Amino acid sequence: MATTLISGGTIISAVGRRAGDVLIDGESVAAILAPGQAAAIGVNADRTIDATGKYVVPGGVDVHTHMQMPFGGTEASDTFETGTRAAAWGGVTTIVDFAVQNTGEDVQDRLAAWHEKAAGECAIDYGFHQIIGGVDEASLQAMTSLVDNEGVTSFKMFMAYPGVLYSDDGQILRAMQNAAESGAMIMMHAENGIAIDVLVAQSLARGDTDPRFHSLTRPAELESEATHRAIQLAKVAGNVPLYIVHMSASEALEEVAAAQHAGLNVFAETCPQYLYLTLEDQLAQPGFEGAKWVCSTPLRTKHEHHQSDLWKGLRMNELAVVSTDHCPFCMKDQKELGIGNFAAIPNGIGGVEHRMELIYQGVVAGEITLERWVETCSTSPARMFGLDNKGVIAPGADADILVWDPTAKTRIGINDKHHMNMDYSAYEGFEIDGKVDTVISRGAIIVEQDSYVGSKGHGKYVKRGLSNYLH
Ligand code: URP
Ligand code: ZN
Ligand code: ZN
Repeated sequence: MATTLISGGTIISAVGRRAGDVLIDGESVAAILAPGQAAAIGVNADRTIDATGKYVVPGGVDVHTHMQMPFGGTEASDTFETGTRAAAWGGVTTIVDFAVQNTGEDVQDRLAAWHEKAAGECAIDYGFHQIIGGVDEASLQAMTSLVDNEGVTSFKMFMAYPGVLYSDDGQILRAMQNAAESGAMIMMHAENGIAIDVLVAQSLARGDTDPRFHSLTRPAELESEATHRAIQLAKVAGNVPLYIVHMSASEALEEVAAAQHAGLNVFAETCPQYLYLTLEDQLAQPGFEGAKWVCSTPLRTKHEHHQSDLWKGLRMNELAVVSTDHCPFCMKDQKELGIGNFAAIPNGIGGVEHRMELIYQGVVAGEITLERWVETCSTSPARMFGLDNKGVIAPGADADILVWDPTAKTRIGINDKHHMNMDYSAYEGFEIDGKVDTVISRGAIIVEQDSYVGSKGHGKYVKRGLSNYLH
């Protein structure tokens, strides 16, 4: 088993920072050593990474990605191979992707299909959540079996997309009751899709077909109403753990904060697009350009205070996690499906490569601390979704490590740093005051000196336990 010493850096965890060296033995962290201790005890590692002046942090954990997901009449453009390689470039060492079950489909079959897509393809470790798009006796039974046998302990449901992935309140309640029994987490796409579809039809009938109407037909009230309803259903189901995904609206955040203050097991995530991008500056760009930023929940207006509230939510732990909801589509032949009809634009933004960078910029801007960067992007997502060996640098944990250079810079853009399989960057021209230096996945260096040196198939499926927040 090869040993690696990461020496001279500042090790950042969710609870603090200290100078020290990290000793890796094979795939695991063996020890954290005080400065000088490695020499004093005669550590003679096979390889040494000089991290002087750099931060040594747990590899990123992105718990919301959609590699090659069929959606909106097409398929997300990153495969497990290209998407996990891009993730590695961005300092991410674990993703949790979504297997999809539609009405009438067998849940186990669909999970097996997702295993087939990912096996032998991934650069980094991966797990699965299961989307339940059709609640019936068989899918409810399968939920229990996935928790007990498959390491799939979280289930995403949709209050949006009627006729596609939508579940009604009764179906959601039944799935929540099932999760209350097994201890699983229910993840919720909280938007009132029935009301949204009325607004969409009215907008199209008026001739308001440009991409910006995607946001205008998905008002914040319909995110907060659905969030409130999901919380009440989860309470009725026995205070089942509920995790609201891709939160964008202040009003929805208020619902989550109120539920938390009332002692309910309610958690939430936001994504970089909601912290940095807006209706006016991106989605409302002239012509069809705004299609690049069509995602749901939508980008919100900058004239309200959604972004500052979301940063506040991250500071206050009302938002425990930052994920990307990486769901990339190219403009050519994919987003273009919606020319003349915003409702036909495939929903999704690619960003798996840039989350560590963009949220670090929040540290530079004074929005959050270095520790909170690590906590929201690595430690909490791992704990939230039962990735027991991930998200920390500690003896026995997987040696998934990002060495971050706070003195170098990163320019994001299609001709700059961009490794996702997309023909544009949602963050074109963004400058980051810091840079991914070295990335280690289970002891193997996969990115160093501006090169990807990992390999397809290195990444392994990780069976997850129940959420460490509650179990
Ligand atoms: O626009 C989005 N969010 N696309 C991915 C699917 C989902 O709802 O997460
Ligand atoms: Zn969603
Ligand atoms: Zn998603």
